[in-house]
Amino acid sequence: MLGSFTYHNPVKLYFGENAVSNLKEETSRYGGKVLLVYGGGSVKKNGVYDAVVAQLKAAGKEIAEVSGVMPNPTLEKLYEGIAVAREFRPDLILAVGGGSVCDYAKAVSISVNCPEDPWDKYFIRFDEPDADLEIVPVGCVLTMVGTGSEMNAGTVITNRDAGLKYGHVFRDARVMPKFSVLDPRYTMSLPHYQMVSGIYDIFNHISEQYFSGSDDCTSDYLAEGLMRSLIHASRIANKDPQNYEARSNIMWTATWALNTLISRGKTTDWMVHQLGQAVGALTDAAHGMTLSAVSLPYYRFILESGLPRFVRFATEVWGVDPENKPDIQIAHEGLDAMEQWMKELGLVMNITDLGATPDMVPAMISGIRIKTGGYRTLTPDEIAAIYNESF
Ligand code: NZQ
Ligand code: ZN
Repeated sequence: MLGSFTYHNPVKLYFGENAVSNLKEETSRYGGKVLLVYGGGSVKKNGVYDAVVAQLKAAGKEIAEVSGVMPNPTLEKLYEGIAVAREFRPDLILAVGGGSVCDYAKAVSISVNCPEDPWDKYFIRFDEPDADLEIVPVGCVLTMVGTGSEMNAGTVITNRDAGLKYGHVFRDARVMPKFSVLDPRYTMSLPHYQMVSGIYDIFNHISEQYFSGSDDCTSDYLAEGLMRSLIHASRIANKDPQNYEARSNIMWTATWALNTLISRGKTTDWMVHQLGQAVGALTDAAHGMTLSAVSLPYYRFILESGLPRFVRFATEVWGVDPENKPDIQIAHEGLDAMEQWMKELGLVMNITDLGATPDMVPAMISGIRIKTGGYRTLTPDEIAAIYNESF
């Protein structure tokens, strides 16, 4: 563990069946006005909306709403939410939905009282919120598992006019939700496609942090444990989506995969997310599927640059038997096992199936922020080669 770091995660979690029953008391810590934010309607069909509103009413809250937050929330929608919040002046923004809704609530929370344009400030210049900015507190009731947004300071916004999808994981812990409600039952109504998309998002969050560094780091052992638990639970949930034990383990793994714990002491890679997000910016595809579609071409491309770690990944995560095999073979067998698992889940394995076409490659490359924390710093030509392998 060679890194020097600060660790500060103040998010309070309520986990388990009927965790929503804590909402009345938790929200009593805030003033009387709650801005309820949700997506395209799933929460009205599965009863989550009614359960949340009942708690808020019992707490005597005045409620305003922003609905229709789409997957991969757009800048236009962000402006709409800011306008509503400036008018209503909420004491709390309560996100009820998946990563898109939670991300969106955070983006609104840091923009309501900010005089500058949020896209320029937070997503182009990558500024932190000003120290004296009043940030509206955010709470989350999570209904889709994957992003870790419930316990991190990340927010991802898509600027459709510019063809750009950028995320900012803020260093400022004030951007994190104050609390999150995690009831695995709330995720049971997810379509299979969304469930497995989220599962791969979780897996990739872990591997983005794992595939960096060469020191003996506790974070890597934690990452291996999380990956093994996820692979195990995902196989059960894939066959039996209503299996509470598996779904609850997946939910808990998602939170720990991206809540800053396992990145401590790590440089971290994040190039799969860069490659995937650039596809998502132009196709609006489900986030986890954009990652699954580019992962194997990327990992096979960098395998020799990070060979010892790929060998460890093969033996510790996938149980590859290393006996009498050269390292390169062990490493490849690890990725082959990963590929088989991905196909078993029914993940999208190429970007053609997401609507990407070869003529989009130059725009995708120009939307990428090349990262330097992994085992290889890619050139634009190498990125093009990886995309060409991903069709
Ligand atoms: O809009 P509704 O009707 O609610 O439907 C949603 C949406 O269509 C549906 N859904 C959610 N919960 C459901 C449900 N359907 C039935 N039953 C339920 N219980 O699922 C669809 C996808 O939801 P979304 O929130 O878009 O998915 P996800 O959680 O994967 O979030 C994706 C967004 O998060 C960003 C992504 O880039 C993308 O914009 N990310 C955020 C990160 C962070 N904050 O740290 C990191 C991630 O890497 C990621 O980039
Ligand atoms: Zn992700």
